[in-house]
Amino acid sequence: MSMTIDPDMLRTDEHFMRRCLELAVRGAGSVSPNPMVGSVIVHEGHIIGEGWHERYGGPHAEVNAIAAVSEQELLPVSTLYVNLEPCAHYGKTPPCCDLVISRKIPRVVVGCLDPHDKVAGKGIERMRSAGVEVIVGVLEEESERLNEAFMTTHRKGRPFVFLKVAQTLDGRIATSLGASKWITGESARIEVHRLRSRYDAVLTSSTTVLADDAELTVRHCQGRHPLRVLLDRQLQVPLESRVFNSETRTLVFASAERADSLRAAQLERRGVELVMVGHTPGGLDLMEVFAELHRRRVQSVMVEAGSRLASALIRAGLVDKLGVFIAPKLFGGDALPTFSTLDVLMPDQAVNLRFAGFGMVGTDFYLEAYVV
Ligand SMILES: NC(=O)c1ccc[n+]([C@@H]2O[C@H](COP(=O)([O-])OP(=O)(O)OC[C@H]3O[C@@H](n4cnc5c(N)ncnc54)[C@H](OP(=O)(O)O)[C@@H]3O)[C@@H](O)[C@H]2O)c1
Repeated sequence: MSMTIDPDMLRTDEHFMRRCLELAVRGAGSVSPNPMVGSVIVHEGHIIGEGWHERYGGPHAEVNAIAAVSEQELLPVSTLYVNLEPCAHYGKTPPCCDLVISRKIPRVVVGCLDPHDKVAGKGIERMRSAGVEVIVGVLEEESERLNEAFMTTHRKGRPFVFLKVAQTLDGRIATSLGASKWITGESARIEVHRLRSRYDAVLTSSTTVLADDAELTVRHCQGRHPLRVLLDRQLQVPLESRVFNSETRTLVFASAERADSLRAAQLERRGVELVMVGHTPGGLDLMEVFAELHRRRVQSVMVEAGSRLASALIRAGLVDKLGVFIAPKLFGGDALPTFSTLDVLMPDQAVNLRFAGFGMVGTDFYLEAYVV
C-alpha cells in the first residue's frame, strides 16, 4: 500500500501524528479497556503503511501498520509514528517495541507516554538502548486527550467521569414539577446517544429514573450499549422501569442496611446484578461505587443524573469533564438548578473549570469543560 500525502502540506511529524490520531479514533467503542491507537509508517514523506488497534485483544496499531507495508525492505529507512508509546510487555500480544527493533525501524515518533505501569517509559527506553531514535511528545495534548479515560484509570485508579447535563440558558435541568423531557432538541438527544456509545458505563440515580424512566441505551445511532449503573439506596426503582429491560446489562448499587430484601431477590431473579456498598448521610458511598467500577475494569463513566448526585460527585472530586447542552429556553428560578450545593462560600472556593470546546448541536449550544 502506498499513499501520497499532498507534498505542499507540511511533511512534519505533527502532520503524520494527526493521521495516527484519525486512525486511532476508529477503535472507539471497541478497544476499551485498551487505549485507542493509530500508527503510520512514512518513507521519504509518503505513508507506506498504516493501521490502528481495531478491537480489544486484537493486534496493536504498530503491528497492523508494519504488516500493511508491502515493501518490507523499506522499514529500515522509514519512520514509525504512533500516538501512544509502544508497549514493552507481553499482554494479549508480544511487545511492540521489540517488533520495531526486530524490523530495524530507525526512527519512532510518539505522541505521549503510556501510563500503564507495565509500560510507562520502558518501551521508549528499550528502543533507545537498541539505537532507535525516539522522539516523544508530538501532539502530546491531543494524544493524551484522545485516551483521557485510559490515562485517568491508570493515573488515578478510578474511571474517568464525564458529567452530561441538558439545561436551559438559566441553568435549570427540570421544571419545578421535576419534568425534564425535553429540554434540548432532537439533534442534541442523538448526540447524547453517540456520547453514550463512547463510554463503558452510564450512571444515574433512583430519583432520576423515577422521574424520567430513561432506558439509557444507544438507539439513535450505531454503537454499543454502555453498562447501565443505577444508584438506588433502598431499591425503590420499580422492576418494570426501562433501565431494567433486557437490552443490556444493569448494575445496581444499594445500601446493605437500607435495601429492600424482597426487591433485591426479584432483581437478582431478573438477572440484574446488585452490589451493596456503605452509605453516608448524603447517599451511597461514592468512593466505594467508583472503586468497584474500577475493579470491574470500567474505564469511563458518563453520568446522567440530577442536581444532587451531580453535586455530590463534584464535591467528592470525582468529575473530570462536563458536557453541557444549553437549550435556548428559560425555566425560571423555581425550577431545578443544574447543581445543588457545592459548598462554595467565597469566589476563590469555586470549582474551577477549563473550557475545552463549544459549538451548536441543532438549535442547542454545547460546551465541554474539564474540572481543574
Ligand atoms: N436535564 C438533565 O440533564 C437531567 C438529567 C438527569 C436528571 N434530570 C432531572 O433531575 C431531577 C432529579 O434530580 P435530583 O437532584 O432530585 O436527584 P438526582 O441528583 O438525580 O439523584 C439524587 C439521588 O441519588 C441517590 N444518591 C445515591 N448516592 C448519592 C450521593 N452520594 N449523593 C447524592 N445522591 C445520591 C439518592 O437516592 P437514594 O439514596 O434514595 O437512592 C438521591 O436522592 C429529575 O427531575 C430529573 O428529571 C435532569
